[in-house]
Order: sequence, then C-alpha cells, then structure tokens
Amino acid sequence: MTKPNGMEPLLEVRALQKFFGGLVAVNEVSFQVMPGEIVAIIGPNGAGKTTMFNLLSGVYVPDKGEVVFHGEVLNGKKPYQIAQRGLARTFQNLQVFDNMTTLENVMVGRHIRSAYGLLSAAFRLPHARREEGDIHEQAWHYLSLVHLQEQAAMQACNLSFGQQRRLEIARALASEPALLLLDEPGAGLTREEVEELDGLIRNIRDAGATILLVEHDMDLVMGIADRVIVLNHGEKIAAGTPETVQQDQRVIRAYLGEVWD
Ligand SMILES: Nc1ncnc2c1ncn2[C@@H]1O[C@H](COP(=O)(O)OP(=O)(O)O)[C@@H](O)[C@H]1O
Ligand SMILES: [Mg+2]
Repeated sequence: MTKPNGMEPLLEVRALQKFFGGLVAVNEVSFQVMPGEIVAIIGPNGAGKTTMFNLLSGVYVPDKGEVVFHGEVLNGKKPYQIAQRGLARTFQNLQVFDNMTTLENVMVGRHIRSAYGLLSAAFRLPHARREEGDIHEQAWHYLSLVHLQEQAAMQACNLSFGQQRRLEIARALASEPALLLLDEPGAGLTREEVEELDGLIRNIRDAGATILLVEHDMDLVMGIADRVIVLNHGEKIAAGTPETVQQDQRVIRAYLGEVWD
C-alpha cells in the first residue's frame, strides 16, 4: 500500500480475531484505512464481513488483536463510546425506528454527538432546548443530502425499502463521523437506486468522511473503491486495487468454488 508521507492511518486493524464457539469468524485479519479512502470489504456469505463491522463498532469484543482508531485502541469500548469518537455505521438488516418520523430518526443520530445527550433533551432543559434547534437544522441538512426532505414528517415504517436504506445513512451521517461503515447498502436496491447510492457515497467522501464498505454489488464496489480487501472463511485472502483483486486466482476460486481448480 502506498502511504503518503507523514499521514497516519485513520483505522488500523491488527491481527483481529473472533470466535463463535469453535468457529473462527474473523481470523487474524489486519488492514489499514487512510483518511479520505473508500475501502471495500468483499467476500462470500459467511466470510466474516459483518462480524468485522461488529468488532470495529464495539458490538463484539475481539478475542485477540486490536482496533486502533485515530491512534487510540478501541478494544473494550462500548458502541456509544466508539460512536462518540467518530465511527458510525449502518446495518445489513435495516434498523430504522419505525414509530418515529423520518426527521426524528436522523435527529437520533445527531444526539450521539450532542454535548447534552438524549436525557437532557428528553427533559427539555433550557440549554438542551436551544441545542435541539441546532439538531433539527442539522438533521434537515442530512435528510436533504439523501433526498428525503419530502418524507421528513412521514413515519419511517411507511418509507420504501430504498428510502429506509438512505435514512439509515443520513442517521449515521448526522453524528458527523470521521469513518462511516456501510454494511451492504446496495442490497435490495434497484439498479437505478444503486447508481444513486454510488453518487451519494462519493459525495460523503468528498465532504470529508472516510468510508469502509461491505458490498456484494461488484459493479458498485469495483467502480467506487480505492482499495478492496477480500475475506474468505474469516481470513484475508487478498487486498489491493479493484483491478488486482479481480484478477487474483484465490479470489476467483473463493467466489466460484471448485470450478477453477
Ligand atoms: N452471533 C453469532 N453467533 C454465532 N455465529 C455467528 C454469529 N455471527 C456470525 N456468526 C458466524 O460467523 C461467520 C461469519 O458471519 P458474518 O460475519 O455474518 O459473515 P458475512 O457478513 O461475511 O456474510 C458465519 O459462519 C456466521 O454463521
Ligand atoms: Mg454480512
């Protein structure tokens, strides 16, 4: 990997390992993400991609290895502590709050970074009320970024699948993360929606965020990623530019099974 002089990685994953009983879901995987990069993690189902995201975001504690973000070891930190440090994510299975409006869903994301937090906002303390106005404004900004202003007052459960996926991204963005993890954002989207997603991810990167993307849509991945990391059975089997990874025989075999042996 080329490393510009003096630039520190935003994220450094060192020999990360996670077992579920006897199954090793992530096996001593190491990689770095530099500021401003779009890095994709690909691999067949069960490769350990979502587990990797769960380790990075504090949902799971690694059995071995380290996650270093902004030079700080994250191991053992709670998901909210990691979110406060500027790492946000979306989920493979949609997790919007059905009983809230679209706008309220985004405001939840903003509260993660708010100085006074959800509790004081809930009690509507004076300083919180003032901040609530800012949060409202910020939430609108992120809604407009994902083209959901017209749906702001709708219950989130009434949005289409593609709209809910965009809402999740807006909610993650509302915490103004340095690193955004997207877990299969293209899954279930129409071709047209995937093309919009491509543009949205580029806009997010251009706005200053770094992106780690798990995705099955190879057109999207190969078109957008600066670098691609390939996992198979929990192990990193290849990493490099989209071009090199696509020509890697281990990668081709992992995707096609025995056909190429
Ligand atoms: N909470 C869990 N408990 C037990 N096994 C799990 C759990 N989460 C994932 N696994 C297993 O770990 C492996 C990797 O899963 P996952 O990270 O979801 O893969 P991917 O996202 O690449 O499809 C799979 O074999 C899966 O069945
Ligand atoms: Mg997954």
